[in-house]
Formats: sequence, C-alpha cells, structure tokens
Amino acid sequence: MRIDPASLSPGRRYFLMISCIIPRPIAWVSTLNEDGSHNLAPFSFFNAFSATPPILGIGFAPHEDKGEKDTLRNLRRSGELTVSMATVPMAERLVETSADLPYGTDEAAAAGVELQASELVGPPRVADSPVSFECTVWELKALGDAGSVLLLAEVKLLHIQDTLFNYYGVVDPYKFDALARLGGISYGGLGERFDLRSGGG
Ligand SMILES: Cc1cc2nc3c(=O)[nH]c(=O)nc-3n(C[C@H](O)[C@H](O)[C@H](O)COP(=O)(O)O)c2cc1C
Repeated sequence: MRIDPASLSPGRRYFLMISCIIPRPIAWVSTLNEDGSHNLAPFSFFNAFSATPPILGIGFAPHEDKGEKDTLRNLRRSGELTVSMATVPMAERLVETSADLPYGTDEAAAAGVELQASELVGPPRVADSPVSFECTVWELKALGDAGSVLLLAEVKLLHIQDTLFNYYGVVDPYKFDALARLGGISYGGLGERFDLRSGGG
C-alpha cells in the first residue's frame, strides 16, 4: 500500500507512524514547575542523536486543548530536565504519569513514583530507574506550524546502576530490562537478543 501522509488526518497519521517505527525507547522526563513542584511524563519520540556532544532528542506533539505540554513549558523556562530510562516492571506507573493533570500537579506522587535529587540540575530523577541522565536544553526547534517541537538535550551527567555493566564497561543489554513502546497501547520488553560483530560504531 502507498500512503501519502498529507492525505491522512492528524490522528490517523500519528497512530500509523507510531505503529511503523518500533520498538521505541521511552524517556521518563522530569522537569520543575514554576513553583518548584515536580512534573513527570513519558515520551517515546525519543532517541540518542550524538555522542560528542552527548545529545538526546525528544519530539513533543501539541496538546489537544491547552497548547504546549507542561514539560515543554517548563523546559522553555528553566532549560533543565532529567531523562530516566523506563524498564518493563515500571510500565504501569509510567503510563499513569501520562495522565493529563492540571499544571502544577505532581504526576510522580499521583502514580507512586519515588524521585531522587539530581546533582547538577534542579529536576529530580526516577529513583529506581537503572539508567538516567541529567540534561540541559541544547535546542528547541519548531517542526512546522502545527505545534510540534523537537527538543535536543545535552547530557551533563549519566547515572548507571553498577550491576548493569558488562565486561566491556558498557551497559549489558541482557541485564537492562528496557521497556519499548510499540504501536497503539502495546508495549514490550527486548525479547530475543543476539550479538553480531560490526566494523565499527
Ligand atoms: C508511553 C508513552 C509515550 C508517549 N510519548 C509521547 C511523545 O513522544 N510525545 C508527546 O508529545 N507525547 C507523548 N506521550 C503523551 C504524554 O506523556 C502526555 O501528553 C503527558 O500528559 C504530557 O505531560 P505534561 O503535560 O506534564 O508534559 C506519551 C505517552 C505515553 C503513555
């Protein structure tokens, strides 16, 4: 089937796109609200885009009613965030924090997610996430004129659980029970893993 994306409604385009590009990692993003309270929400338009400098990217869709999402609003003001990697056992709590609550509501507290203070930035990170990043905003770029925004964030500090490291000094994918978002309401673990030697990279 050939599909012209311009022929689709925004909703259909969204659900079709997110069902095609899988699996996607999930960034659990913490920012500070204007009064210093916490905001936590998951984002799966997410990946790493550069190691030098260490840059993560996250895509924000506009909110249906209230324009910019609270996370984006906080980033514009404070320029700081943490990104905690989600694991399979965290899935239900993570989805709970995507609830559309009024600005200033602490989603972490509402979903029973424990937060831990960061070292370099104001927003705390998810306490039991095995991998998390303290970041600052590198760039916020509008994508078109319908309210979509790409965040590029620079990693200032990595926190990695000691037990995750393998012989090569990197995170062992066999120990990191990372959560993947699939299309619609589907999620998954990493399933079968295998090793292949490559020329580099
Ligand atoms: C697993 C998952 C992934 C999500 N990924 C995104 C995403 O990449 N971009 C986006 O704009 N919203 C995404 N959402 C929706 C936001 O989490 C949701 O709009 C949330 O209320 C935003 O919170 P905020 O207003 O506190 O920033 C996702 C939701 C879930 C459950």
